[in-house]
Order: sequence, then structure tokens, then C-alpha cells
Amino acid sequence: MGKDKLRRFEENKTFPNLFQASYDEVFQKDHPLKGLWKQKVFGNENPLVLELGCGKGEYTLALARRNREVNYIGIDIKGARLWRGAKTSQQEGLKNVAFIRTRIELIESFFAPSEVNAVWITFPDPQPRKENKRLTSARFLERYLNFLVPHAQIHLKTDSRSLYDFTREVVRGWPGMILLESDPDIYNGKRMPDDPVITVRTFYEKQFLEQGKAITYLKFSTGNLSRVNPEEA
Ligand SMILES: C[S@@+](CC[C@H](N)C(=O)[O-])C[C@H]1O[C@@H](n2cnc3c(N)ncnc32)[C@H](O)[C@@H]1O
Repeated sequence: MGKDKLRRFEENKTFPNLFQASYDEVFQKDHPLKGLWKQKVFGNENPLVLELGCGKGEYTLALARRNREVNYIGIDIKGARLWRGAKTSQQEGLKNVAFIRTRIELIESFFAPSEVNAVWITFPDPQPRKENKRLTSARFLERYLNFLVPHAQIHLKTDSRSLYDFTREVVRGWPGMILLESDPDIYNGKRMPDDPVITVRTFYEKQFLEQGKAITYLKFSTGNLSRVNPEEA
């Protein structure tokens, strides 16, 4: 492992807003902050939004700068990438940002019913051969329903036309899910200049744009499908 990566891993341990849990700590077990992120980490009752596969956390940071009354958590398995997001949030003194290093397969160990208001999925691996590993497959959406509020919005940005088409079909075929936006080319000039779908460009997005790829976007709502917090039901 390179020295730079080792240095970042060491520094990751010092960030108060970066949470790392080993597989054994959360496999079929709840993380100690499950249900308590707003209260214990952010110290408020503001809505909570996740970015899944956040890499360096461009969306987490950009949306947090823009919406100070919303809490954001970026999630990824790669510590060296999360270091960038955590470092920037510290340097800028952003109080409404945190990061979790974990596998998204274990996400239900981190969040309780109705704890999360929205999800951004930014340039996930398209997993052309393994449908169940796609972050927008039914298997993953079922997991998200366990912690999303009713009518939560899920945003997908991807350069993969096949993942875009696949996700659209999953949403359309799922009674109760509502497709809100479906855009096969976000830079076709039809969006408002301050729309975060086009103003925030992630590390991977810039590379895909240089390769001349179209960037697609889907927004959909979970309707009434979420498993609501029993206290709120
Ligand atoms: C193609 S990169 C995109 C990163 C960032 N969103 C961007 O647009 O620059 C996909 C990211 O998802 C993360 N990832 C993929 N599968 C994951 C999983 N099962 N759990 C956690 N992170 C995952 C990878 O570590 C990687 O950082």
C-alpha cells in the first residue's frame, strides 16, 4: 500500500465525522448510532439525506453547502476516497456532513425505519453481469425501504445507459413507486442553470464527460412503500 494511502487511513481515524465499522461489528448487528444520527451526530432534527457510493463525496459536500438545514451522510467502502470528503468538510467547517465507511449491503445496520429522507446514488458501478449487485436492483431498493420515510425521493446519476434503462424498468414495474424524472442526457440544455443535477460534477462524472458519454438522471419516489417507524405509524 502506498504511503499516501496509509497516511490518509491514519488521518481518517481522527475525523470526528467519519465513522468506520468493521464487517463483524455490523453484520446482522445494529450500529450504535442506528436511529440516533440526527440526535447524537448532528444535534438537530433536520432531514437526513444519503449519498451511496459517494467516492470523494462531491454531492454530499455540494448539497450540504447549499442546504444548511439538511444533514448529509456519504457512504462508501473506500477509505482513501472518503478521506477527501471528510478532509474538505473539516476544512470548511461543515457541520451538516458525515461519512460512513461500510459496504452498502450492510446499510440496514446503520439506519432505523423512517430515519432517512432521500438518497442520491452517484455513478454506481453498473454491474453488467450481476443484477443483484446493482444499487438500484430490487434487492437494494428493498433495503432502502426499511429506513426511508414514505414518499422519499431517490436520485440516480449514471453514465451507463443500461443501468438507467434497467432502473427505469424496476421503478415502472413496482406498484407504488413513482417515476418523477427520466432524463437520458442532462446536458441537453433543458435544465435550470442552478439545478444540482448539472451544477455538481463528481470525479467520475468529469472522466465520463471527457470520454464524450451522455450523463443520465432518474428521480423516483418510494410512494407509500416504506416500512414506517412504529412510533410514527
Ligand atoms: C464509480 S465510483 C463513483 C464514485 C463517486 N460517486 C463519483 O461519482 O465520483 C463507485 C463508488 O462506489 C463505491 N462502491 C461500489 N460498491 C460499493 C458497495 N457495495 N458498498 C460501498 N461502496 C461501494 C466504490 O468504492 C466507488 O467509490
